[in-house]
Amino acid sequence: MQSYRLQGARLEMSTSCVLQKLSGAMFIVYLLIVGVSSFTIQPEEHTVPAGNCRFRGKYFKTNIGIEGEPVVLQCPQMRYWLGASARPHVSLTWRKNDSAGMVPGGEETGVWVQDDAIWIVPAWQGHSGTYICTVRNASYCDEMSIELRVFEKTEASVPFTLYPQSLTLSTAGTLVCPELGQFTHNKTDMKIQWYKDSVLLDQDNKKFLSVKGTTRLLINNVSVEDAGYYSCVTTFAHKGTRYNITRNIKLHTKIKEEETVPVIISPHQTILASLGSRLTIPCKVFLGTGTDSATLLWWKANNTDIKSTYHERRVTEGQRLEYSENNENYIEIPLIFNPVIREDLNTDFTCVVRNTLGIQMLHTTVKEATTFSWGIALAPISLVLLLLGGIWMHRRYKHRTGKAYGLTVLKTGHQDFESYPRKIKEIK
Ligand SMILES: *[C@@H]1O[C@H](CO)[C@@H](O)[C@H](O)[C@H]1NC(C)=O
Ligand SMILES: *[C@@H]1O[C@H](CO)[C@@H](O)[C@H](O)[C@H]1NC(C)=O
Ligand SMILES: *[C@@H]1O[C@H](CO)[C@@H](O)[C@H](O)[C@H]1NC(C)=O
Ligand SMILES: *[C@@H]1O[C@H](CO)[C@@H](O)[C@H](O)[C@H]1NC(C)=O
Ligand SMILES: *[C@@H]1O[C@H](CO)[C@@H](O)[C@H](O)[C@H]1NC(C)=O
Repeated sequence: MQSYRLQGARLEMSTSCVLQKLSGAMFIVYLLIVGVSSFTIQPEEHTVPAGNCRFRGKYFKTNIGIEGEPVVLQCPQMRYWLGASARPHVSLTWRKNDSAGMVPGGEETGVWVQDDAIWIVPAWQGHSGTYICTVRNASYCDEMSIELRVFEKTEASVPFTLYPQSLTLSTAGTLVCPELGQFTHNKTDMKIQWYKDSVLLDQDNKKFLSVKGTTRLLINNVSVEDAGYYSCVTTFAHKGTRYNITRNIKLHTKIKEEETVPVIISPHQTILASLGSRLTIPCKVFLGTGTDSATLLWWKANNTDIKSTYHERRVTEGQRLEYSENNENYIEIPLIFNPVIREDLNTDFTCVVRNTLGIQMLHTTVKEATTFSWGIALAPISLVLLLLGGIWMHRRYKHRTGKAYGLTVLKTGHQDFESYPRKIKEIK
């Protein structure tokens, strides 16, 4: 505060030197910022008051359980806390939204917390609801909620428990028994029974093959009749009781997509840009009647992908666009420079497109557009020169001498003038 006042007083006295005033003002602003930030930031660094916890929202996926079967709820935000479960000073608590208390820890109640998950064995409809997982360490705390819905084991509730999957006709496809992660962890002797429309499948023939030790069912030569309702059942033993774990799947079959070789139709081989400015180079690909889902499109710099070349994200790939014009499909990904620097002039940028039928790439280089700005600057001068040249030539012509020199002036002037609109066209 003392130095602030001194500085201020000196400022008032010195009226002549504007520069000194300016630096003084900047110093005051700096002092203010340091002062204010030391007051606001410091308390936060020490403790997180209980209840002052950042709520990250609801997890996008609702957990589905079936009555009488085990359910595991994973703490959804744990993956943001890298290695947190390995660190002793990170604590994790669960509570259910509609009850004030913590989720009890005790296997005898059938509900317990193990690592970063709640186990409910077996689950009943009363276990449905919103669960909130709180993770905290000495300096930070966050919460996320996850919803559980437990359904009766009846035909009527099947539609609410379906996991949609889809396979392509006339190919070999795989159904996956979903959401078994915690139950199959460290288990190699896993056995899964597959049902189609409640009939146990013969899982070892030419049509169906249940892959031993995995959650997969292979379906050979997928046909329209294969679409419909499947269920897979595995078992889980706890305290001498065997529980079923059932997942219901709705299989949709789809027609094999017609594919054509994709063709890159832009950008041009050289792109003009000014150093220090923002630049966007779209890579546009023509797919014909082919569809975009199976087509990969990406940019490379010096034959390396953009993310690993530009950690600082000065150059990035923009969002992928998929659209149709006159019933023909296109995809597009822009390469965005923010800003262009000299290094870019020596870098080879490549747009690569790939689908099952082929791969195509197009190289492009960025060139400095210096002549462009000179063109603008010189245009009026050229015009004046042209005019003067014309007048001069006119006079010379009258006097019948020195014709050649006059023509030269006219020529250079004309060239400069014309180069200006041509360069604009290139930059587009
Ligand atoms: C918990 O329940 C209350 C009232 O039932 C609701 O307002 C609140 O949004 C719920 N919180 C979460 C995280 O779902
Ligand atoms: C607490 O967790 C946050 C977020 O993961 C981390 O940035 C911070 O360093 C941790 N603090 C301590 C004291 O471990
Ligand atoms: C696949 O099934 C169709 C009928 O759904 C049949 O016409 C075709 O011959 C089968 N292909 C193979 C390779 O088995
Ligand atoms: C578990 O599923 C099998 C069929 O896969 C069935 O026979 C058995 O009764 C089920 N057990 C329970 C407890 O529901
Ligand atoms: C790409 O290679 C050229 C020469 O080989 C080099 O000058 C340039 O800096 C490289 N660009 C990047 C982004 O590494």
